[in-house]
Amino acid sequence: MFNVSIKTFIKLLKEEKVPARKIGMEWRFSRQALIQWLSAGDSQQYSSSESDAREFFDRVAGEWSKMRSGYYDDNVINELLSSGLLKRDMVLVDLGAGDGYLARAVASSVDTVIAVDISGAMINELRKKAAEEGIRNIQTIVSDGCDVPLEDSSVDIVCANMFLHHIEEPITAVREMGRILKPGGRVFLADLTKHGNQELKEAMHDVWPGFSEKEVADWFVKCGFRIERYDALGRKESGRKSGAKAGTKKDTGVFIMAAMKQ
Ligand SMILES: C[S@@+](CC[C@H](N)C(=O)[O-])C[C@H]1O[C@@H](n2cnc3c(N)ncnc32)[C@H](O)[C@@H]1O
Repeated sequence: MFNVSIKTFIKLLKEEKVPARKIGMEWRFSRQALIQWLSAGDSQQYSSSESDAREFFDRVAGEWSKMRSGYYDDNVINELLSSGLLKRDMVLVDLGAGDGYLARAVASSVDTVIAVDISGAMINELRKKAAEEGIRNIQTIVSDGCDVPLEDSSVDIVCANMFLHHIEEPITAVREMGRILKPGGRVFLADLTKHGNQELKEAMHDVWPGFSEKEVADWFVKCGFRIERYDALGRKESGRKSGAKAGTKKDTGVFIMAAMKQ
């Protein structure tokens, strides 16, 4: 009925006044009472997907580079660096920059990188790693990527790797990309293709189970972009144990898309 793991459900039982009784070793519920309890809730008392993402990524910031390696590799960086989209005099925004996987990799190719992330701990990791690598042209902003404190038409390129599937209404993020980009500016997006791996909701706090080409393209076209490129990069298999079934943790495909603000 709740479509969450047993662990999450037990946590809910401890934290909320769920209509339930434990008889002996077993929890007992009335379906009717649960429906009434659900419908009596007030959504404003509950955290949004933004604060969920912030809490989760604040918690895992120190281990993010290790966690990330099971899901995607340097292919995305190589694709961006060889795309011909980057020019020296550009201002590049990396939305949902995390510890700077992309931002640090492209910093030597453009004048200025602005890394935006909702998690202060992720941004601290990015700053630490950039300093260790001697990178000096990354500015950082702790902000919701759907409401960025940057002027309209002020940047040349927006990149977002594995950011969009954390956004409840992705079109709000796409609209924001369009607002801050100069006319003729580009978006370089990398994200997961549609998958059936429910584990990622729990393990990585993903909101969307990847995207189809059509749904992403529709959002961009609605927000005034022209799609220039879409490529599926294939699945990340390297960490997969032999014998693991399709749909297990590593079985996710990545796509890249480039679009121009008209
Ligand atoms: C899967 S990680 C990807 C990080 C980085 N781009 C990378 O490739 O390693 C997603 C990042 O998006 C950030 N994020 C999630 N929701 C966000 C939001 N609404 N606004 C800004 N950043 C957000 C998270 O804090 C996290 O750092």
